[in-house]
Amino acid sequence: MPDQTTLNHAAQVLATIGSDQRADTALRVYFERHRYLQPPARRAVSQAVFAYFRWLGWLDSKASPQKRIEQAAAMHERFTADPKSVKPQALARFAVPEWLAPEVNLPPESLVQLQRDPNLWLRARPGQAAALAKSLFAGEPTPHAADALRFTGRQDLFRTEQFKTGEFEIQDLASQLVGIACAPQPGATWWDVCAGEGGKTLHLADLMQNKGVVWATDRHTGRLDTLKRRAARAKLFNYRAVAWEGGTRLPTKAKFDGILVDAPCSGVGTWQRNPHARWTTTLEDVHELAATQLALLNQVAGSLKPGGRLVYSVCTLTRSETSAVADAFTAAHPELEPVPVFADSAPGGTTPGATQVVLWPHAVEANGMFIAAWRSRKP
Ligand SMILES: C[S@@+](CC[C@H](N)C(=O)[O-])C[C@H]1O[C@@H](n2cnc3c(N)ncnc32)[C@H](O)[C@@H]1O
Repeated sequence: MPDQTTLNHAAQVLATIGSDQRADTALRVYFERHRYLQPPARRAVSQAVFAYFRWLGWLDSKASPQKRIEQAAAMHERFTADPKSVKPQALARFAVPEWLAPEVNLPPESLVQLQRDPNLWLRARPGQAAALAKSLFAGEPTPHAADALRFTGRQDLFRTEQFKTGEFEIQDLASQLVGIACAPQPGATWWDVCAGEGGKTLHLADLMQNKGVVWATDRHTGRLDTLKRRAARAKLFNYRAVAWEGGTRLPTKAKFDGILVDAPCSGVGTWQRNPHARWTTTLEDVHELAATQLALLNQVAGSLKPGGRLVYSVCTLTRSETSAVADAFTAAHPELEPVPVFADSAPGGTTPGATQVVLWPHAVEANGMFIAAWRSRKP
C-alpha cells in the first residue's frame, strides 16, 4: 500500500490532470519539477496514479483524493492477488465507459487483462532475442514473435549499454506483430504512412536487412526527428523521413511494394497501459477518427504497385474504427483484394488465413490491435 508521502504526491499529480492532459505527461512534468524524487519513489507515485484511473469506477467520489487513491491501491492489491475477487459483471460495468459496449464485445478475459499491470515488451534485432535475454539477465521469449522479449528486470533500460548501441527497441508485442504482418522483403520499397516516432518504420527497415527503402511520413515533424535519432542508434539507414499531412498532394509519385497505414485511433487497445484514456476518450472521437482512417487509406491506395501489399493497423478495438473501416475500404476498392494478415502463423489465437484479425489484450498479454491486409490485383 502507498505510504502517506506517496499518497500526497499522487494527489498533487491528480490535481494537475485536466481532460486534455494525459496522466503520463502530468507525471513527467511533476517529476521534472520534483527532481529530488528517486526512481523507487517515482515508481510508487506512478503506480498510485495509474491504479486510481484503473479503479476509478469503484471509488467513492465524495472521499478526499488521498482516500480515493488509497481505495484504488487496496482494490489493485486485492485484484492482483486474486483476479476472481472482482466479478466479471462489475468489470464490464465499471472498468470501461458505458459508450464502449455497442462498439466492442470485450471478452471477460480482456477486461481482466485491462486491470492488470501491463507487460513491458522489447524487440531484439532479428535473431538476437536469446542473446539479448542473456546479456540483460531479464527477458522471457513468447511463442507469438521470435524477436520479442517480455522484460522481467528492474534496471533502467534507457541506461543500458544494449539500448545505447541499438541492440533493442522498447516496442509492444502487438506493434511487433504489425511489422510481422507486413512481411517486407529485403530490397523492397515500403511506405509507413503514419510513422510517428518510427516504432514500425525501424521494424520494417530491420526486417528488410537495411536494404531497399522505407518512406516514413507523418504530419508531426517532431516525431520524425525522434525517428531519425532512433534509426541512427539502431544503425538503420534504409529509410527516408518526410512530413506529410495526409492531404491529396502525396509526398512522392513513387509506387510501393508495400504500404502500412498505422492510423491515428482512439487507442482502446492501450487502456491497460494508459487507464486515464478510458475516461477522456469519447464516442465522437471514435467517429471522427474512423473518418480520418478511411480517408488516409483512400489517399494512399493508388500508390501501390500491382501485386503490392497494403496493411491497415489500429491499436483500438471499436467496430467503427476496425471492421467498419476495413469493409468500407474493401467495398470502395475492387482493384484490391483482401489477403491473409499472417502468411504462415496465427499469433494470439487468430484464425489462420483471416484477412482481418483482432489481437485481444488477454491473448497476447499486450495492447489490443486490429490488422487488415489487401493486395493490389495485377491488371
Ligand atoms: C498510431 S500513431 C503511429 C505510431 C507509429 N507508427 C509507431 O509505430 O511508432 C499515428 C500517427 O499518425 C499521425 N497522424 C495523424 N493524423 C495524420 C494525418 N492526417 N496524416 C499523417 N499522419 C497523421 C500522428 O501524428 C501519429 O504519429
